Amino acid sequence: MAFNIKPKSFVTRQGRITANQKKALTSFWNKYVISEFSEIQEFIQGNSSLLDIGFGAGETLVSIAQSKLDMSLLGAEVYLSGIGTVLSKADEFDLENIKIVNEDAEDLLQNKIPDNSFDVIIMFYPDPWPKRRHHKRRLIKKEFIDLLHKKLKPSGIFYFKTDWKDYFDKVNLLFEGPNWEDLNLLDLEEHLRDIPPTSFEKKAIQANRSLNTKIVKKVN
Ligand SMILES: C[S@@+](CC[C@H](N)C(=O)[O-])C[C@H]1O[C@@H](n2cnc3c(N)ncnc32)[C@H](O)[C@@H]1O
Repeated sequence: MAFNIKPKSFVTRQGRITANQKKALTSFWNKYVISEFSEIQEFIQGNSSLLDIGFGAGETLVSIAQSKLDMSLLGAEVYLSGIGTVLSKADEFDLENIKIVNEDAEDLLQNKIPDNSFDVIIMFYPDPWPKRRHHKRRLIKKEFIDLLHKKLKPSGIFYFKTDWKDYFDKVNLLFEGPNWEDLNLLDLEEHLRDIPPTSFEKKAIQANRSLNTKIVKKVN
């Protein structure tokens, strides 16, 4: 019998959850976390929409939600601690334009997102899996890029950052070809240009790692 088990891009663990995160998870889960295909579709259709893959503590998600109130922002994250932080901030800032999906982003895209759905997909500092034997766990590979292409609207934007140069070089190669056009930061609208650095980005700067950015537009 043949088994085809996809390597996971994350390790299943609970992680430490603070009292504040726990309180937010209990109080605001039903308000912000969605999982049904119909709920997700209803949230993202109509308005311009953005997906943040692996939002971590959600600094980027919350910052864009505050500066772009007419955009629907969907965040995908597997760890509850980060979701707790976002729920707490979403409530504090009274944000109506954020919803969270607590799922593997690849499964989400494959199973619950119609084609041509997002204006923007961002993926900042995905887990780098630096050891060579773990590279198969990295989220971005050819099939994943094909999936992103399908789920972006025509002229939709994919915005990627990593502090791991070898990951960046591979990603760069994968975006070569007629389906994507390179963009610069200055090509983006203001709410995407002026995003404050996340804690991961600050750590990378402190550790003297290079910050690498790839911004592409779906063209075909
Ligand atoms: C290094 S952190 C970066 C967080 C954030 N984007 C930032 O820039 O600060 C990577 C995040 O991706 C999440 N993650 C990893 N694989 C994922 C997957 N398949 N689906 C959703 N989230 C994932 C991890 O839980 C982690 O929070």
